[in-house]
Amino acid sequence: MSRLKTIYRCQACGHSAMKPMGQCPGCSEWNTMAEEVVEARPGGLAESVAEARGQLSSFSSAVTALRDAGATPEKRTPVGIAELDRLFGGGVVPGQVILLAGPPGIGKSTLMLQAAAKLAEKGPFLYASGEESLRQVSSRAKRLGLSSERLYLVSESSLSKILAAMEQVKPWAMVLDSIQTVTHPQLVSSPGSVGQVRECAAELVRAAKAKDTVVFLLGHVTKDGSLAGPKVLEHIVDTVLYFDTENHELLRVLRAQKNRFGPTDELGLFEMGEAGLKEVKDATSFFAAELGRSAAPGRSVSVALEGSRPVLVEVQALVVSTRYPLPRRMATGLDLNRVLVLLAAMERHIGLRLEDRDCFVSLAGGLRMKDPALDLAACLAVAGSWREKSVPSDMALIGEVSLLGEIGRVPQLESRLREAAKAGFKRALVPARSAKDLPGISGLTVIGASDLREAAEAAFGVDS
Ligand code: TYD
Ligand code: MG
Repeated sequence: MSRLKTIYRCQACGHSAMKPMGQCPGCSEWNTMAEEVVEARPGGLAESVAEARGQLSSFSSAVTALRDAGATPEKRTPVGIAELDRLFGGGVVPGQVILLAGPPGIGKSTLMLQAAAKLAEKGPFLYASGEESLRQVSSRAKRLGLSSERLYLVSESSLSKILAAMEQVKPWAMVLDSIQTVTHPQLVSSPGSVGQVRECAAELVRAAKAKDTVVFLLGHVTKDGSLAGPKVLEHIVDTVLYFDTENHELLRVLRAQKNRFGPTDELGLFEMGEAGLKEVKDATSFFAAELGRSAAPGRSVSVALEGSRPVLVEVQALVVSTRYPLPRRMATGLDLNRVLVLLAAMERHIGLRLEDRDCFVSLAGGLRMKDPALDLAACLAVAGSWREKSVPSDMALIGEVSLLGEIGRVPQLESRLREAAKAGFKRALVPARSAKDLPGISGLTVIGASDLREAAEAAFGVDS
């Protein structure tokens, strides 16, 4: 019989103690002692290896030559929500453990309930909630218009009861909402503490692998961005997804941080509405609703990358005489330091006199982006506002601007241009070096500019 007991181990230096302590006696760090279950087994390692030798045939995976391993590809089951399946590389695989983390109120439970209803079409699905009562979960399901014969709910925060429910329902996939609410029977520390979160997750990973069950673990991250609970799970789960608002009040962005079975550069876009989370399939038309269509001095349009996806964005600038000794500079949605550099580059290279002007630059629609490909659009929006000239409304501007006023290349130019063409743009101003070797894109005339002066001429006319 194995003997179970718990100890407290410092997460920083590994020092262990029998009692909980605020400060580690080993390294003097505060709040690093986390509870752990230790299993004191009789016999030494040699004995245990001898025992294992007798059980070679029952290994969780037999010892296999590389060339024979993985001959059959993993069986993927699509969730049925395209934005999620994009992140999963087509679907989930048996035994996959997925951590879905995000700040409270972002929509994790809502997304998971919607996914659960889809997943339950393929077999029994267990929705274990330690956060909400059965009534709360079911009334949300009703409000979202979800129902399924094979969706089972349990409102429980004890790990043993959740594992027992798993044995009863035999789900092919399940969710635990959230990992911070469950308690391990052997631990006395409070739910949500590092020890509890890690031990409970470890048990669920074991169960998932043993039964080939797909397990979703929901986890809250704290407001200041620290991931107390979920962070310690990143290495034991297969996939880590982060759900956040990022750029936009309405938009919810799901990113894969780690993915043993799929890509990490994709992202899923959702919009929170009355009927739960709606997929944003066409990011450009989502933002295009907010794009100004008519030309105006101080307005320009670019195509930025959101993950690997091109998205049309509008830059607005306002340049006015200042009433202050020090002219003001403000940037909303763009990095202010970047904008300051661009203003300086324009003063020097196209002679834009800004020392007695206030400059305000913003991204329309409440977006926040750091893509350097927006530089050119930001520069010409400022120059346009100053000179009271408009960038043509059918022209998209894509390019990085260097300190020397040169237009530099940007990644994925071709897919950005296709997105612009799709949204109805007829002309695109791009780095001259890239313009040469671009394939033709129907409906779009590509104009190359090597520096700010050429770009301003192309956008505003030769006399500018
Ligand atoms: P929820 O899924 O409970 O967030 P989490 O599990 O990440 O804490 O969603 C919380 C917010 O979403 C809540 O403020 C209400 C809002 N919401 C809607 O706007 N529409 C809906 O259809 C649903 C279900 C929730
Ligand atoms: Mg929730």
